[in-house]
Amino acid sequence: MQSERTPGLHIGIIMDGNGRWATARGLPRALGHKAGVEAIRRVVEAAPKQGVGTLTLYAFSCDNWKRPETEVSALMGLLRLYLRNEIARLIENGVRLSVIGRRDRLPEGLAADIARVEAATVTGRALHLRVAIDYSARDAILAAALAGAGRKDIGREAFSALVTGDACVPDVDLVIRTSGEQRLSDFLLWESAYAELHFTERHWPDFDAADLAEARAAFQRRDRRFGGLGATSAAA
Ligand code: IPE
Ligand code: IPE
Ligand code: MG
Repeated sequence: MQSERTPGLHIGIIMDGNGRWATARGLPRALGHKAGVEAIRRVVEAAPKQGVGTLTLYAFSCDNWKRPETEVSALMGLLRLYLRNEIARLIENGVRLSVIGRRDRLPEGLAADIARVEAATVTGRALHLRVAIDYSARDAILAAALAGAGRKDIGREAFSALVTGDACVPDVDLVIRTSGEQRLSDFLLWESAYAELHFTERHWPDFDAADLAEARAAFQRRDRRFGGLGATSAAA
């Protein structure tokens, strides 16, 4: 479904470190994922107040199916609970939720839950929350290339719409990855061509509004040049 572009920054977050957070506390990894859902709630509430219009959260990658079955089912169960429990709050706060990624491999009923929340929140304008589930950026680019094959006139903008599946989603301004790792792990590879990157040691379950504000402040200090000379150099 097409919609208007939500004004504001597009921030992508690779929510990493749930397992390490739990292990450091002697807890099972699943409890780290549960605490990670609380962090999602905090950040979704904080984002619109910090000038974020689009927030894309990496929740489950295509490669995460390699994990033990027990962990995968715990994660899928939490995603389902989040969708079911959150719907009223999302509507109340004007949050539009969309899910990106494959839906054909999800456990029974989850795709229907996703469709229900997407339909119920479609008019939300305060924040466009995109949750990446069974998502691979390389697969999204490959699918777009196949869909655009034979269209010789296709430009970057039209191709971007094929990659994101939504012409109203802007390029990513800032990618945040928690828990110390400094890699993209197949997240928004096309959309992040000129994104600023912010890495923090904080494990995802501990991430809060202040961490988001710190990342925003660091972003604000960057000189984005997009291949040109940018504000600082051009003035010299
Ligand atoms: C992020 O935390 C959640 C997912 C990738 C699903 P991890 O589960 O990757 O946590 P670590 O990296 O093992 O600490
Ligand atoms: C990336 O985290 C995927 C998500 C956050 C959903 P991983 O923990 O799976 O990534 P790698 O294996 O450390 O690169
Ligand atoms: Mg990890």
